[in-house]
Amino acid sequence: MPVKNRFAELLPEITAWRRDFHEHPELLFDVHRTAGRVAELLRSFGCDEVVEGIGRTGVVGVIRGRTTASGRVVGLRADMDALPITEQTGVPYASRTPGKMHACGHDGHTAMLLGAAKYLAETRAFDGTAVVIFQPAEEGGGGGREMVADGMMDRWGVQEVYGMHNMPGIPVGQFAIRPGAIMAAADQFEIVVTGKGGHAAKPHDCIDTTLVAAQIIVALQTIASRNVDPMKQVVVSVCTVQTDSTAHNVIPQVVRMKGTVRTMDARVQDFVEERIARIAEGTALALGAQAELHYQRGYPVTVNAPEQTGFAVEVARAVSGRVDADTPPLMGAEDFSFMLNERPGAYIFLGNGDTAMVHHPAYNFDDNAIPFGASWYAGMVEARMPV
Ligand code: NI
Repeated sequence: MPVKNRFAELLPEITAWRRDFHEHPELLFDVHRTAGRVAELLRSFGCDEVVEGIGRTGVVGVIRGRTTASGRVVGLRADMDALPITEQTGVPYASRTPGKMHACGHDGHTAMLLGAAKYLAETRAFDGTAVVIFQPAEEGGGGGREMVADGMMDRWGVQEVYGMHNMPGIPVGQFAIRPGAIMAAADQFEIVVTGKGGHAAKPHDCIDTTLVAAQIIVALQTIASRNVDPMKQVVVSVCTVQTDSTAHNVIPQVVRMKGTVRTMDARVQDFVEERIARIAEGTALALGAQAELHYQRGYPVTVNAPEQTGFAVEVARAVSGRVDADTPPLMGAEDFSFMLNERPGAYIFLGNGDTAMVHHPAYNFDDNAIPFGASWYAGMVEARMPV
């Protein structure tokens, strides 16, 4: 099963869909035009079922194989949303909306999964049911969580689920994956330090919140360096510090700090949350101030099931012969984690060549990757549900 010849024939058509999505980027759950186009195309391919409005603006297509006697159901997922970035690629099909851009290649993911759906609906050379999942709001809104909460997995009886993301820096046609944790959990926190403001020339009459905040920032770095096992990954970053004073001679009453925590292991995640609270509150207390922690869990760790990762590697190897099956994990986060928490599956990277990194205004998805990505999606269905 090399790159499927049909995708060489379909390449101009799939590329045209991709560039149309690229010209019309939409954010978070407001992917109405994109979702409408996806649903329209799925219907035109002759999918057995097309349902819109799953998880607000998600779309699900169902394609039954030549037979469904096996009772097996495999899910394939792509994301549809863009980013609030002003495009600087200069391509003729650049975003028509200033301040919005497909800077993460979700236009490419959606187009490749549509290509696979068209092929699967034409050929149906599998025993079981393929469920193609197009999700909104990967970039921060939790669209994957919303689709799961909407009962998608049970409604269509999805047994395994597979997702893909392009990756600059990896050659086009090359895949990268690992079993276990591949993307981090991303949490956010705010620490509010309250002291006693006053005249900067009379520090003895104040409780200096700026100094307390500085001590907390330094002490938080002991979590990664002194508290967590060095063999485990953790990031604790304080990213904003804001006082309620704008004067050079006023000690502020309140300081607010915001930051992010990235972890690869649920136990480390719990531990870090607890340590941040202890350090913030304890440091403030020692210096006569008060600190309050607001900690918010974001996307969980993206965990590839070992067996399904093996299947994903086999198909990728068959498609291009170029697979890094032990790629290092990334500290970014991925909304597909919510689907992988529900069902075993795997998430794979597909090379985008030597381009700007995702989320950069000069980034663009490489259309040469389409035959590889579409072949992998379709190949997962044929390999997991052979006739
Ligand atoms: Ni992305």
